[in-house]
Amino acid sequence: YVPDNAISSEDAQCHPEEVHITFGDKVSDVVIMWSTVGNCSSSVEYGPGPWGLAHRAQGETKLFTETNPNGKHYLHRVEVKDLGSSTTYFYRPTSNGVSSGPFYFKTPPSGYDWSPEFLVYGDLGVESDAISALETEALSGKYTSIFHVGDFAYNMEDEGGMQVNDTHKNDTSMDLCENKRGDTFLRLIEDFSSRVQYLTSPGNHEIDQGSFAHYRYRFSTPGTSWPIPLNKMWYSIDIGQVHFVSYSSEVFFTSDGQYIAEQEKWLKADLKQANDNRARCPWVIVLGHRPMYCSNSDGDDCTKADSKVRAGLEDIFFNYGVDIVLQAHEHSYERLWPQYKGVVLSKNYTNPQAPVQLISGAAGSKYKGDNEKARREEWSAFTNTDESLNSVGKLKIMNSTHLYWEQYNLLTKRVIDS
Ligand SMILES: [Fe+2]
Repeated sequence: YVPDNAISSEDAQCHPEEVHITFGDKVSDVVIMWSTVGNCSSSVEYGPGPWGLAHRAQGETKLFTETNPNGKHYLHRVEVKDLGSSTTYFYRPTSNGVSSGPFYFKTPPSGYDWSPEFLVYGDLGVESDAISALETEALSGKYTSIFHVGDFAYNMEDEGGMQVNDTHKNDTSMDLCENKRGDTFLRLIEDFSSRVQYLTSPGNHEIDQGSFAHYRYRFSTPGTSWPIPLNKMWYSIDIGQVHFVSYSSEVFFTSDGQYIAEQEKWLKADLKQANDNRARCPWVIVLGHRPMYCSNSDGDDCTKADSKVRAGLEDIFFNYGVDIVLQAHEHSYERLWPQYKGVVLSKNYTNPQAPVQLISGAAGSKYKGDNEKARREEWSAFTNTDESLNSVGKLKIMNSTHLYWEQYNLLTKRVIDS
């Protein structure tokens, strides 16, 4: 075993690894991130064809050691702004003249009147059986972006020489390994996260003893400085006719609740602005890791009458007319009828009078699936424990009045619900 930092050549020290991309403040801006062993510079060469990349953008390098004693220590972020619409760009991340790729991505059309399609899931670990199938799906060319709604790798800070404190299911097996799980995860998803804009939300497995360090350093989110500050783990972005809002369900469980009020204030202001813009962006879709309601039998927050997430968010989403709430955390799939405080307002989705809640947290991990309780409430329209594992959501915006959702099992290739 040769530790990474014992390799002295610049090629090895500066080779860009774990490349992934996301949107900047708007969809014509793309942020490119990667990791290196050594302290190397950050730039990207890019252009409209794979050869002779003529454009160059500079970015920044950050030293990342917090809860990361043995992982790759240098993280890179380069933002490429004001790209052309509906264009495929090729790019090479470059550190001290050492490049990898070329990788490629496409930019969305401009304006509002087009029909984007998204992949949506949470709870994807390095031990998922579905990563290869997910890669094939993600690279089909259909998707404008991917939303990973919390819980990455299980856990990114593990295998770094730290004592692991995994509160999710009392699992202690990971401290036997010598790798670095955040690096492993980003390497596993690189083939598609380097080519399809990968948007993120924080989950409970990113808490990292309250620091969220791996999440804040390894990812970048629209309209937010980098590393992402603890008091700004939320963002919004317009994609076509949708105003997407990502919030942190973790504010209710960390830092003695000191960020709850700040997020709430931001959420209300953001949703008010979104409502003022409904003529152009008729859909408002919010995403956050832990659900407000669920039919699972595991005793999680969403199963409780006094759920903290529900108490903190349900009224806001209802009052501001949010259309859809995309959630994860439960390792299963569930679709709810439009309902408010447990009262079902309709048993169809025609002009729903309350936000429609979906749970898609079964992209696969060592924890496998979560079971449902024996008797479900009236608001539970559909759940399927058996076929949920290894499934992801597909969201397609048809136009200003219709959208389509389905839950798709990556391994059986069966649509389990639509
Ligand atoms: Fe979770």
